[in-house]
Amino acid sequence: MHKKTPQELRSYRWLGVNDMRSFGHRSRAKQMGYAEEDYAGKPIIGIINTWSDLNTCHSHFPERVEEVKRGVWQAGGFPVELPALSITEIFMKPSPMMYRNLLAMEVEEHLRSQPIDGAVLMGGCDKTTPGLLMGAISMNLPAIYLPAGPMLRGNWNGKYLGSGSDVWKYWAEKCAGNLSDEEWSSMEDGIARSAGHCMTMGTASTMTSIAETLGFTLPGAASIPAVDANHSRMATACGRRIVEMVWEDLKPTDILTIEAVENAITADMAIGGSTNAIIHLVAIAGRAGIKLPLPKFDEISQRVPLIANIRPSGQYLMEDFYYAGGLRACLNQIRSLLHLDALTVNGKTLGENIESAKVLNDDVIRSRENPVVEIGGTAVLYGNLAPNGAVIKPTACDKNLWQHTGRAVVFKDYNDMSARLNDENLDVDETCVLVLQNAGPLGAPGMPEWGMLPLPNKVLKKGVRDMVRISDARMSGTSYGACVLHVSPEAYVGGTLAFVQDGDLIELDVPHRKLNLLVSDDELAQRRAAWVKPERKYGRGYGALFTERVTQAHEGCDFDFLHAGEPTPEPEIH
Ligand code: FES
Repeated sequence: MHKKTPQELRSYRWLGVNDMRSFGHRSRAKQMGYAEEDYAGKPIIGIINTWSDLNTCHSHFPERVEEVKRGVWQAGGFPVELPALSITEIFMKPSPMMYRNLLAMEVEEHLRSQPIDGAVLMGGCDKTTPGLLMGAISMNLPAIYLPAGPMLRGNWNGKYLGSGSDVWKYWAEKCAGNLSDEEWSSMEDGIARSAGHCMTMGTASTMTSIAETLGFTLPGAASIPAVDANHSRMATACGRRIVEMVWEDLKPTDILTIEAVENAITADMAIGGSTNAIIHLVAIAGRAGIKLPLPKFDEISQRVPLIANIRPSGQYLMEDFYYAGGLRACLNQIRSLLHLDALTVNGKTLGENIESAKVLNDDVIRSRENPVVEIGGTAVLYGNLAPNGAVIKPTACDKNLWQHTGRAVVFKDYNDMSARLNDENLDVDETCVLVLQNAGPLGAPGMPEWGMLPLPNKVLKKGVRDMVRISDARMSGTSYGACVLHVSPEAYVGGTLAFVQDGDLIELDVPHRKLNLLVSDDELAQRRAAWVKPERKYGRGYGALFTERVTQAHEGCDFDFLHAGEPTPEPEIH
């Protein structure tokens, strides 16, 4: 293997040469208190830190960044911290999804425009993982991903609580009159008890597990709880390893192959991952020029059993998963379904990284012979209501609804739904199909997690807890129910979803992968002719860029100009 020389480091162009511009760079390094011995001839490692005072899941990052730096120094590198857009899932509106691509652009340009040789990417809260990876893949400098780690289990009234999943569950009980105001508010004290991302198999745990399976983390990194001392040691190990990766010139495109992507989909199915993973993986793969059609997810789903018994599809939480052996042990259970020779950031193959991992609790990580569900957690539906596809997570919904034909109750947008859902005069019962329009990538915009439409209180009070719901939105990975999501094309651009009217019959058939609006083609053509496109919400700024250039759900909702294409030139230094 060719090992880079100091003169071949990218940063050498800024700091190693002897001209007027490099005089400026060195003198300003001295301004910060660094002597030439600190950085000369050493890889400069950009630590991209998505910490902020509003990111609830990354509150331990100020400590972790110091631990990463320790590792970089130990290995003979020069660490520099680069703060990046934090994307807090909890506080960012209208949807943090709107900002994933902005983070990806920021990461790519941070790395491109500055004297950086390699990067440690610090993320975990939902959109940060795909945003960081997408940007790093496009820039294609050596990069290693440091996942934030899940928070500890929630604890309330003697019960373990899971992020998101138990909020939806107990809110439904409150709306049905089964939980007092006092009990409801006392849950606030127990559901989020430590630093770290959501500890169900929501989007965060799914995406960090996918990052590890793709090969972008050190082995075992995705499962370590955020506040476990092992997490600190792993952060330092990331710092040491990235320095070696720079000398080895091990780049994201060496790791992100079609085999690695198929491994990630396989892992997603085995862990019962979030439906959001589909959009993010399509976008991540697209950055390396790998096309990922939706049927690929369904095809892999058919042959991979769901073996991680974690909410919302199962029973336990990420802390239990870690104690049971974590992702490595889970992947080892299905090793014959993986491309074991896929390369990872530690320079070893995925097969080598998982081969010694043991399952320590076979109820949390099941065997293939005793899975939680026989097949994986994702089905892709097609039909006249979703010519480009829609997605459902059958493992997290009432099996009786897998085949269901019902009368549509249509809401033209989120505000309409909020205003009318609990109107006593709304003609709705549990056999109906709730339809939400204009919640997609352009329509909302930003495709918020509105896809788990709440059930009307009058239905909840009958004891019903699931109904068929259809939208062009996403749903949180911690959510559950018979929710058909990501309908493409979306209503806002004139997809069939825009033409559904109250009383139309809709047919959902999960076993046969069908989603149809039972309305004649002639009638649909008439409705299309009379349709008026909703007004655009943003005339300026990032919102305007977003609504002009974002792609549809089945294409990953990336910006069209950020897909793999002509390489962007390295900056001139003068
Ligand atoms: Fe950050 Fe759920 S709020 S991962």
